[in-house]
Amino acid sequence: MALVDLLLLGAQKDPNSERGVSCTGELPASSDPKLIERAQIARKSLGSKAMVLGHHYQRDEVIDFADIRGDSFKLAQAAADNSDAEFIFFCGVHFMAESADILTGANQKVILPDLSAGCSMADMATAQQVNECWATLSKLNIAGKTIPITYMNSSAAIKSFTGKNGGAVCTSSNAERAMKWAFEKGEKVLFLPDQHLGRNTAVLKLGLSLKDCVVWNPWKINGGLTDAELISAKVILWRGHCSVHGRFSVENVTQVRTKLPGVKVLVHPECQHEVVSIADVVGSTEMIIRTVTESPAGSKWAIGTELNLVQRLANENPNKEVIFLDKAVCYCSTMNRIDLPHLVWAMESLVNGKIVNQITVDSETAKFAKVALDRMLALP
Ligand code: 13P
Ligand code: SF4
Repeated sequence: MALVDLLLLGAQKDPNSERGVSCTGELPASSDPKLIERAQIARKSLGSKAMVLGHHYQRDEVIDFADIRGDSFKLAQAAADNSDAEFIFFCGVHFMAESADILTGANQKVILPDLSAGCSMADMATAQQVNECWATLSKLNIAGKTIPITYMNSSAAIKSFTGKNGGAVCTSSNAERAMKWAFEKGEKVLFLPDQHLGRNTAVLKLGLSLKDCVVWNPWKINGGLTDAELISAKVILWRGHCSVHGRFSVENVTQVRTKLPGVKVLVHPECQHEVVSIADVVGSTEMIIRTVTESPAGSKWAIGTELNLVQRLANENPNKEVIFLDKAVCYCSTMNRIDLPHLVWAMESLVNGKIVNQITVDSETAKFAKVALDRMLALP
């Protein structure tokens, strides 16, 4: 990495410190033998005025308390569809809780049990960087024919930018439909912030070539691209990635196929293009679960996604062989920050009349972010 890039990285603010301190000295100890009982009591006393949403990557101890489990799309839908619960405990990461706040009514409050549960990929695109990129596209007279598509894993500010500029949000379960929709409206797509999901969708789903895609590096002047490259590209991919899914390699796939004949490799589309290209099945977390659950007894699956989910799938399918694609342990460290002590702390605080860790998106940002989210929810 060039020295200037290192200096720029060093100057970047820690998004977790901006999000605030999570909770101060009030957390129950994780060793408290009454923790599960405390969670059950708090949950019961909150009753129907609360709803607990849990992403598939959450720990077992947390997901056990989820009223609805889902991938990011299903949870966004659940938030949009539920107007009854006054309080939504979002067991997932910050961008998901922001989306829930945008999609729920003014009387509903979204609580993220640990504010430091961010997403490293979402933090790879800031609103300022995206505005600078858009200014470059405008200068080249190509912004007017470019439709931004932003992955759910992005801040509310980026979703708002997308809504303002005619684009839509997508998740891993509808990226193909979102990109097709964008090409019906414009000639180019700016895909934020996951280059892998964008590339995999453009090439493997829409049949574009790798040469149709360029990668915009926010740390370089002009994104590190020439004007000609930007003008001729069909898809401008943001240089972001998931640190968990980025780890799975072609070597992992070839090794598991040698070691376990008959195994099927099932990966999330946030994995690198080389890995996704040779996998047997590719899909969102919801799709991964459905595929394994519906497969016949005796099936063998090597799964490239977050470890909490893979372990749960292995436990829930004892008549199948379900293994993790990588040899090394690979939890999403930010998803894992939501643990039972934090959930108990947040629920008990509410029982005692104190709302903690509420996620609120300001109304101006929320207005256009909702436009982009609603476009996603309306996709055919
Ligand atoms: P899903 O859209 O499949 O829920 O994935 C979200 C995510 O963060 C994957 O890393
Ligand atoms: Fe973000 Fe990756 Fe964790 Fe998903 S798995 S929340 S993309 S860091």
